[in-house]
Amino acid sequence: MQVRSAAVGVDVEGATLIAGVMEGLQPVTGSAEIVETIDDSILEAAGFEGKSGQVLTLPHSEAKAVLLVGLGEEASFGSIRKAAGNAIRAVKTERAVNLLALVGLEGATRAVVEGSLLGGYQFRTYKTDDNGLEAELVDIVGADDDELATAVLGCESTILARDWVNTPAKDKSPETLAELIEAAAEDTDIITETWDRSRIEEEKLGALLGVAAGSDRDPRVVILRYRPDGAGKHLALVGKGIVFDTGGLSLKTANNMEEMKDDMSGAAVVVAAAIAVARLGLPVNVTVIAPLTDNAVGGDATRPGDVLRPVDGPTIEVLNTDAEGRLILADGLGLARRFDPDLTIDVATLTGAAAVALGKQVAAVFASDSDVSATILEAASRAGEEFWELPLFDGYRKSIDSNVADIKNISGNRYGGAIVAALFLKEFAGDGPWAHLDIAGPARSHETSGEFVKGASGVGVRTLIEVARSWAETD
Ligand code: BES
Ligand code: MN
Ligand code: ZN
Repeated sequence: MQVRSAAVGVDVEGATLIAGVMEGLQPVTGSAEIVETIDDSILEAAGFEGKSGQVLTLPHSEAKAVLLVGLGEEASFGSIRKAAGNAIRAVKTERAVNLLALVGLEGATRAVVEGSLLGGYQFRTYKTDDNGLEAELVDIVGADDDELATAVLGCESTILARDWVNTPAKDKSPETLAELIEAAAEDTDIITETWDRSRIEEEKLGALLGVAAGSDRDPRVVILRYRPDGAGKHLALVGKGIVFDTGGLSLKTANNMEEMKDDMSGAAVVVAAAIAVARLGLPVNVTVIAPLTDNAVGGDATRPGDVLRPVDGPTIEVLNTDAEGRLILADGLGLARRFDPDLTIDVATLTGAAAVALGKQVAAVFASDSDVSATILEAASRAGEEFWELPLFDGYRKSIDSNVADIKNISGNRYGGAIVAALFLKEFAGDGPWAHLDIAGPARSHETSGEFVKGASGVGVRTLIEVARSWAETD
């Protein structure tokens, strides 16, 4: 799908016109002229009240159809994004003309672009037939051109991450995924480097090797470097790249195991964000570390009780091989420290406990100090992504003291699991500013609504871009 900006009075012939209506049938600015010509009794008969999530298609004298979309109680950045997403899926013509940016609200263009491109996203690589008419071109009336171009880059990266996450694990071995990442970074100023098994052994990434031991597919580490002229600060991004999480010898149950192809979402998100930062030309140094591996069952698989030696930091007693994300991140964070960044952010589908605590739509943030958490939460709010801070409560730290090694990878009870995992990572993050984003809940959408489509969400990409942008603007 393509979006472009259009002027008031753009030709609507053959297109679907998208007009916004608030609750109580109040048309938003830009839509009044259209909505006022529609008889209230028609809307009433159809049960259309302008509620968020409602859409109604009606005939129109010039356009092929007019699509009314409910914004709910207010026209905000968030409600416009959701409405644009809900509307785009109801469009049955090749072209749509969207009037929602005319509300004159700051950021409305961006919200319409995000709703259209992300809400209209489809993953059809493995479908034989196409599914008939769908919007291919969206004219956004009254759009701000710069805002539109910037928003498109953020959406394209979000979609890149979604495509990778939605790809079946069979087709994204660590080797293949590393190649896909290198190919995606090719047209940017990013320098890519991929470590194969022998390099990983040479570098002594013992925790990553321990997780990879059960798989016939060799691990990889992808390192991206973006070093623009005039850059100020340095951002290190570390992403969990488990291409499929069976649990290892501490095997998962069969229910929903297919969802564990999502377990490389962290890696997909950090790579996609770095690509957007480079394409936007933001003057920020970015280093990405993406350890990629299966967590499989095999004759050589790491056993409960085994001890792993990460590249840097404490030795780890593995008591549950399903707590593998923190193991590969231990090595990822260890590598990130070598770059001496101003801030390190890791992103991971790390714990079911984070999803239990915050539900499927909110990601957890842990931060080394309140400046870091403010940076992330403000960025998330500008990006329109939902994050909530959880504490690095020190009182739980002793629950991962090990009898045999320096630290163990689980606590032995299920309480506060997201916090315990974050405290484990903290041991490997060093003393500098650091944040950990646990996206286990929102990495996958279970419903199609607003800018979300069933399957991978790409949540985190736009927040990380905003972090880099906030640095670019204050430097
Ligand atoms: N990849 C999972 C976490 C996860 C669960 C992500 C559900 C998305 C949806 C992770 O590797 C895992 O298995 N974590 C365990 C940790 C436990 C063994 C301490 C969990 O959450 O149960
Ligand atoms: Mn696991
Ligand atoms: Zn996992």
